Amino acid sequence: NNTFSRLYLRQNLIVLEEVTSTNDYLKELLSNIKPLPEATAIMAIHQVAGKGQRGNSWFSKPAETLNLSFSLHPKDFFIHQSFNLNMLVCLGIQRWLSTLLPNAQIKWPNDIYVGGKKLCGVLIENQLSGPRIHSSVIGIGVNIKQHAFPIAIQHKATSLYIEKPEVPLQSLEDYALSLLLAIMTLYENTDLNDTQQLLTAYNSCLFRKGVPAYYEIAGDTLLGILQGVDSNGKLRILFDGQERLFDLKEVSFKQ
Ligand code: BTN
Repeated sequence: NNTFSRLYLRQNLIVLEEVTSTNDYLKELLSNIKPLPEATAIMAIHQVAGKGQRGNSWFSKPAETLNLSFSLHPKDFFIHQSFNLNMLVCLGIQRWLSTLLPNAQIKWPNDIYVGGKKLCGVLIENQLSGPRIHSSVIGIGVNIKQHAFPIAIQHKATSLYIEKPEVPLQSLEDYALSLLLAIMTLYENTDLNDTQQLLTAYNSCLFRKGVPAYYEIAGDTLLGILQGVDSNGKLRILFDGQERLFDLKEVSFKQ
C-alpha cells in the first residue's frame, strides 16, 4: 500500500553530493552489505563518471539531472525474462511523468521521449546466480532543470523545465522519492512473469508506433512503420509490407 511504500522508501534514499556512478556505488553496497534492504536507493547531485547504455557515458552538469539508482531482488526471475523488468521500469517512469507530460512515450528499448526528444534514460545491471537474476541495479537519469542543451544535441534532448517552464520545479530529492514510489507501486502490483500484460502496456505508449519514419539498418536508411515490440523484446518494423525483427545494435532511429 502506498503509505507504507512512501515511509519505507524515505528511509532508504541515500543522497550523495558527488559520486563516480550511482549504479557502481550501489553495486558496491550490494556486495558489502548483506542483505541490503529492498529498494535501497542512491541519488547523486553530480556524477563524474555516469554510465549510459551500450558502454556510453552519461554526462550531466551538477544539480540539473536526477541521477538515481535502486536495487531489487526479484524472486524466481530468470535472465531470459530481463526485458520484463526493463518494461516495468519504463512504464513506472512514464506513469510518474504522465500527470505533467501526458505525451511522454517509451522509445525502445528503454528511453523516455517527449515530443521526439530524449528526457530520460535507463541502465539496468543484473547480477546473476546461474540462470536467475539475483539482484538488479536500476539506474535512471532524468533531465530536470536544464534550460538548454549544447547545440550538438539540442535537436534530440529535452528536460522537464524545457517542456513545462510554467510549473515550479521541486527538489531533486522529491522527484527521486515520487519516482521511486511510482515504480515500486507498479512493481508490487505486477507479476514480472506476465510478459503479455507488460508488453500490452509497453506497446501502448511506444514512441513512433504506427508512424512512418526512417531507420538505419546495416548502413542503409529505410522508411518503415514500427509495429511494436515482441515478447523477446525485439523491435518489429514493417518495410515495404514485410515485417522484420531487430535486436539492439541492428537498428537505429533516424531523426
Ligand atoms: C542511457 O540513456 O544511455 C542510460 C542513462 C542512464 C543514466 C543513469 S544516471 C543514474 C545511473 N548511474 C549511472 O551511471 N547511470 C545511470
